[in-house]
Amino acid sequence: MAENPKQLQTVPKLSILNTERLLLRAWTLEDAPAVDKAFADEDVVKMTGSKPYPYLPNTAFGSIAARTGKYLRGEMFDFAITDKTTNELVGGVGVFKRQSKSPYELGYWLAKPHWGKGYATEAAKKLMEWATQTLNTDMIVAGHFEDNPASGRILYKLGFEQVGGPKETIPMYSLARGGRFPGYVYIWPAEKAATTPLSALH
Ligand SMILES: CC(C)(COP(=O)(O)OP(=O)(O)OC[C@H]1O[C@@H](n2cnc3c(N)ncnc32)[C@H](O)[C@@H]1OP(=O)(O)O)[C@@H](O)C(=O)NCCC(=O)NCCS
Repeated sequence: MAENPKQLQTVPKLSILNTERLLLRAWTLEDAPAVDKAFADEDVVKMTGSKPYPYLPNTAFGSIAARTGKYLRGEMFDFAITDKTTNELVGGVGVFKRQSKSPYELGYWLAKPHWGKGYATEAAKKLMEWATQTLNTDMIVAGHFEDNPASGRILYKLGFEQVGGPKETIPMYSLARGGRFPGYVYIWPAEKAATTPLSALH
């Protein structure tokens, strides 16, 4: 279907976002080899919903190219995370919609050599600042698998709150794991988590 030209004109630009140690910028096809390398690691892709395992060489090229259409429809605002001093690609962070009427959902990942330095928190904080100022949204959702407590910690630091009780899991799909596995759902801002039933989100 042809894009609505009016809609295209109003899609927010992916400006470069600056943090203390990182730059968040639009993806380019030149990033594909570094993404292939990061996602060759099962420990990275098994925490995501949509990445396959094995993640075969040259998969990222098509995935980066496909982002343009989703971006132009206002359904995905996704940034490459780079190390400011080395220019190295260290990961990705963004918001996307599962369907056009879904709320924005936050996602992030880092290549394993960059875990444990606070980069995901630093990048996701900046992304949340950008998204809440730019996308005119009053609610963002997120989720993680039960075996990914580091992600839950990041979400709390960003002001998300878990939906349901602390142990209330829901089955979440993982392509890499090959099925649905228990996970937790979160909402920003925290106040909304108490009043939004899980059934409204999945
Ligand atoms: C999850 C991921 C993004 C974390 O990246 P990171 O840069 O290491 O995260 P940060 O250092 O910013 O923050 C991690 C927090 O979790 C904490 N943490 C780490 N392991 C933990 C564990 N096993 N249990 C509880 N908390 C843990 C850290 O101490 C830190 O909290 P703190 O700052 O209060 O000390 C990274 O491991 C990754 O990319 N994993 C694979 C993809 C993925 O999981 N994406 C998210 C899908 S929901």
